[in-house]
Amino acid sequence: MSKHTVVTMPGDGIGKVVLPEAVRVLEAAGFQADYVHGDIGWEFWQREGNALPDRTISLLRQHKLGLFGAITSKPKKAAEAELSPALQGKGHVYYSPIVTMRQLFDLDICIRPCPSFPGNPLNFVRRGKDGIEEPKINAVIFRQNTQGLYSGVEWTNPPKLVRDAIETHRQMKNYAAVDGRDLAISCRILTRPACQRIIRAAFEYAKKFGYKSVTICEKPNVIRETSGMMEDEAKRIAAEYKDIALRSTNIDAQMMWLTKNPEDYGVLVASNMFGDILSDGFAGLVGGLGFAASANIGREVAVFEPTHGSAPKYAELKPSIVNPIAMILAACMMLDHVGQTATAGRIREAIGKVVAEGKVRSYDMMRLSGGPAAIGQGAASTEQITDAILGKL
Ligand code: NAI
Ligand code: MG
Repeated sequence: MSKHTVVTMPGDGIGKVVLPEAVRVLEAAGFQADYVHGDIGWEFWQREGNALPDRTISLLRQHKLGLFGAITSKPKKAAEAELSPALQGKGHVYYSPIVTMRQLFDLDICIRPCPSFPGNPLNFVRRGKDGIEEPKINAVIFRQNTQGLYSGVEWTNPPKLVRDAIETHRQMKNYAAVDGRDLAISCRILTRPACQRIIRAAFEYAKKFGYKSVTICEKPNVIRETSGMMEDEAKRIAAEYKDIALRSTNIDAQMMWLTKNPEDYGVLVASNMFGDILSDGFAGLVGGLGFAASANIGREVAVFEPTHGSAPKYAELKPSIVNPIAMILAACMMLDHVGQTATAGRIREAIGKVVAEGKVRSYDMMRLSGGPAAIGQGAASTEQITDAILGKL
């Protein structure tokens, strides 16, 4: 087994709490790796004017595998106010390090698995004809991670050249009389190769893990060009995968369907914002932020993270009460990525046992309000949850 080097980037707040827990699990599961620490987050913004220092970028470029906790980010003015005095007024601009990482390494494929662990009190349930049903959900969302509405090409009061250019489109006649200062434009940009890469990744995953369908989730009847391109490419690529059915839904209808029959969906694929919405929707059915993990995969570098942020209000609690499972599931995705699917499977199984047993539960699983009182009310600490998982490994 080749030995990997993982760049661990705990970041801020509870990122610092959950990341070491995931490393504990990886080590106990026998994953052969070295770990090097990567600086990232708010303290480096404050001290150096850069939340993602070049040395961390170099480590990622060298080792190709990143495990990331979470960062704190704040709006532009608030960020500037917290810069160290020596750096203020020098033109430093805060950029989110995770967004920067995605762009810098072209981490264009985002994978967000949303499996339900049976017995999780946070799981979606519904009334069936014989009482309450808890369907087994096993959706995996593939989200194009770098383009679409998040490509950052946008203006309020667009420059004349831009305004003149878009006014050549006949639909713009509806806005001809609008003052530039009252006109905001965000471009939804997609390239055919990016569509092909995300769709192919979805089909390959379906093939590798035995899913029967891939659902393309767009809105091609209205957003004809970009959603249309996604849909066209999905049809072309689907033809190469005879055993996997291509289904097509509109994002709005899909958000309704997932609250009715979420168990019917396997792999889903969407452009950036629709994938973002879709994955939060599914995550909410299987436990929410304490359980939601994601992978950001490029041609060379891949970074794995829980979906949650730095949850500052819980960062300093001793003992910590936050749920480490999302971070541990992110580590499992890293194992899948490097071909150690059996080890990942053993860890997921251990998590499943702890959840099913229900003896050790984090405050979010007990629907308690988080805070120092949670432990007294029966919630397990972060460390106890990891220990319980290790006990089942
Ligand atoms: P958040 O995800 O940090 O926390 C929201 C709430 O979710 C928490 O207050 C807590 O109740 C719950 N929660 C989150 N993680 C949990 C866990 N592991 N176990 C149990 N409960 C958990 O989002 P929020 O409060 O909107 O943002 C806080 C900071 O995090 C902001 O600065 C934001 O910009 C940043 N952020 C960073 C992300 C990242 O690093 N990828 C993603 C989202 C937010
Ligand atoms: Mg989101």
